[in-house]
Parts: sequence; C-alpha cells; structure tokens
Amino acid sequence: MAITVTVIGLGYLGATHAVAMAELGHNVIGIEADEKKLAALKGGKIPFYEPGLEEALKRVIAAGRISFQSSHSDKSAKADVHFLCVGTPQVKGSYAADVSYLYAAVDALAPYLSKSAVVAGKSTVPVGTAKELKERLSEQTGFAAKLVWNPEFLREGTALEDSLRPDRIVIGVEEGDSESEKIMRAVYQPIINGDTGSPAGQTPFLVMDVATSELVKVAANSFLATKISFINAMAEIAEASGADTVRLAEAIGMDARIGSQFLRNGIGFGGGCLPKDIRAFVARAEQLGAGEAVEFLKDVDAVNLRRRERVVSLAKRELGELKGKRILMLGAAFKPDSDDLRDSPALAIALKLQELGADVVITDPMGLEGVAANHPQLKAVEDVMEAAAGAELVILGTEWKVYRELDAKKLAAVVSNKTVIDGRNALPYRAWQEAGWKVIALGRNLEQAN
Ligand code: UDX
Repeated sequence: MAITVTVIGLGYLGATHAVAMAELGHNVIGIEADEKKLAALKGGKIPFYEPGLEEALKRVIAAGRISFQSSHSDKSAKADVHFLCVGTPQVKGSYAADVSYLYAAVDALAPYLSKSAVVAGKSTVPVGTAKELKERLSEQTGFAAKLVWNPEFLREGTALEDSLRPDRIVIGVEEGDSESEKIMRAVYQPIINGDTGSPAGQTPFLVMDVATSELVKVAANSFLATKISFINAMAEIAEASGADTVRLAEAIGMDARIGSQFLRNGIGFGGGCLPKDIRAFVARAEQLGAGEAVEFLKDVDAVNLRRRERVVSLAKRELGELKGKRILMLGAAFKPDSDDLRDSPALAIALKLQELGADVVITDPMGLEGVAANHPQLKAVEDVMEAAAGAELVILGTEWKVYRELDAKKLAAVVSNKTVIDGRNALPYRAWQEAGWKVIALGRNLEQAN
C-alpha cells in the first residue's frame, strides 16, 4: 500500500530515510530549508558521500515517487505520516543536545497537520522530548496530535542498507493509540515481511512506550561507545604491560556473550552520533537527577579522547621536537566510506600536531573538500604518493581500503623516514616491516607480536 509521507530535514538521516521510503513504494515529499542541499537533491545528487544512495535517489526520482520542497505546502496536509529527521547537535559549551530544530520543525508543520496524520520522530533526542513536542503540537493545532517515536540506527557508509534491512524497527506509541501503530506498521510492512531481503527474513517490529523508544537509541549508542572505549582502555593496559590488544580482542570476542564487533582498538570513535549522544545522555540523566547512573560515560569519553593524545605523544617520542617536521595523516573522515569530518579522530590528531608546530599533510579519498574549506592550515593533498613526499612520520587515521592496501615499498621510497603509526590496527604490518618500516600500532608491541 503506497502511503504519502513527508520527511522533514534532509541531512544524513533524512535524505537516506526519504530515499528508503520511496524505495518501499511510498510517495515522499522531502522538506529541506537549505537551498543548496535542496537544489542538489532535486538534481538527483546526494550532498554527502554515501555508497549506493545517489543511484537509489535517481531511481526513485525517475519513478516519480519523490519530490523536494523548501517548506511545507498544501501537499503536506494530505500526507499520512510526517517524519521528523532534523539534527540535534551538541550545544556549544555544554554537553546537552540542541533540540531547537525539532521545535522549529513542529512549529512549521502544525498549520498543515491533519487530525489523522501521524508525526514520527526519528532524530536522536533526550528522553522526554517527544512528550514536549506532542504538547506543543497539540497546543498549536487545537487537537490531540498523534506523535510516535521511531528511532533510526543507520550507520554511515551502509546507511541505505541499514534502512531497508534493519535488525529491528522500534516504535514508541502512547497507550491506546492503536491507529498510529497501524499506520506505522503499514509504512514498514515490506521490511517487516522480509520483502526487502533482510538476512534474517522477517524483521522484528517492536512496539513500546514513547520514553523507552527514545532511550533505546541513546542506550544502543552508549553501549557501542562503551565497548570501543573498553577495548581502548585495555590498549592502555597492554601498552603499559607489553601485551597485545588485537590478540586479546580476538580471544574475548569469541565468547558469544561478548561478541567480536566493536572491539577494534585504535584512535577511537568519532562522527556525528556516538560522541554527542553519550554527552547528551549524561546531560539528560543529570537533569533527571540520575546522573550517577551514567557517570561512567564520562570515562568512556575520556578514554576515547586519550587515544588521540597517545598518538600525539608517540609522534613526539619518535620525532622529538615537532616544529617543522613533515607528518602525513592518512585519512580525515571519522571512518572509511564516509566524507564526514564531524569529531573525526584522524582530523583532530592532524590539527593538534599542526598546532604543535608540525607541518601536516593530510589525504583522504572523500573528505578533502571539507578539510580544505574548514582547515586551511593543513595541507590537503589528494594523491597519496605526492602527499607522502618527504614525510618523517606517517599516521594511519582512517582505515580506508586504499590505505590498507598501500604498497609499503613504494611509499618507503618517497618518505624521508620510514616510521608509521597504525592508529587503526589495520595495516598488514609484516609487509610494512619487510619494506623497512618501523611500525607502531596502538595497544600492541609488534616486536613481540606473532
Ligand atoms: C553509529 C551507530 O553505529 C549507528 O547505529 C547510529 O545510528 C549512529 O551512530 P556511525 O556514526 O555511522 O554509526 O559509525 P559507527 O560505524 O558506529 O562507528 C563509529 C566510530 O567508532 C567510528 O569513528 C569508528 O572508526 C569507531 N569504531 C568502530 C572503532 O574505533 N572501533 C570499532 O570497533 C568500531
């Protein structure tokens, strides 16, 4: 059954969700106030790098299932569901999440909201936000607005795949609001039925209260962040004791209760979600008088940031005075297959080294445009061999495939000192050692590794 939906806010989450909805066969009206983004999307272009998404956008445009507008029009009044996908960034100078874009989005929607339509929030929010949004909407419309929460778990780099073949779909509905549940079930029916090809066949559709659904997202991201910081904390111990974190992770990850995913130690997590979500969670818990419960997330954050400092101190150990030393950073994005520079550990380390006087060259297959626009103090060079010329230290900051597969011999011929810090434990270190490199890997003692 084709349903008409609006998707409000077409950033990473919204653009992907809009395309996914159209791929499911629904009629989608995308709302985006930023004229540049809007023009790109109308022209079949995705304003960020996400594998496969642009092809899918072109497909749904050609099929006539998606259109874009800068603001609501009478068309919105006919929609059955309105998805709220605007950003909730970290407030400057505070840990809290800024929910003002959500308030602005419901204010703009209110005049077009019909009594039967469902507003489905997807943005990551502090628990309690949905209730406030519903009250505000109901005040403005003069009727009890239908509002559900429908958190999104997509990862950058596999965003469309995660949207069409998720592990589960979570819906938070108010008690007794079976109408909204029915509509949401209809929206996701092809995924629930397994028609989109979920590996597990049918997809679990979890219906719960609104507060729990809001919490599910922050709890999931907090758990993932904790898992990464746990293994990075083990790396600190390994560095102090001569143990090997990669072998340790392999061994504990084989315990099915622990699992091997998100146990890759290195320079830590970044991006637009994990760092800001754990901080916003701490801020909200403190407001609720339950700050103690998630106090440990401050440590999770601190361990994560200490890994960046570790690389800076290793650089100092290897090079002595950093002033004027040529350092190559391989990677700028917070993870491979993304051009997202938000809170990127690789970029943060490059900027710190530059601040300390080093002459930093940075390269990245997708993220260099953003580096050049926002961080002109770094030398952004596209070609890796050119970027490596004369380098006294090479650092792997983002484990792009092209870097993992670099020819260590060829690279050795153009640098002026063959030392590499593998910040992601992703290089085939033996091949590098054979090519004459001194390989330093976080949380490992490669002299002893076997
Ligand atoms: C994350 C969540 O995974 C996703 O469910 C949520 O919707 C948004 O936030 P994303 O930010 O795209 O997704 O990236 P993710 O793949 O989770 O990686 C986050 C960061 O952790 C990256 O910087 C990555 O390099 C780092 N990471 C991941 C590690 O350092 N070690 C690991 O083992 C895994």
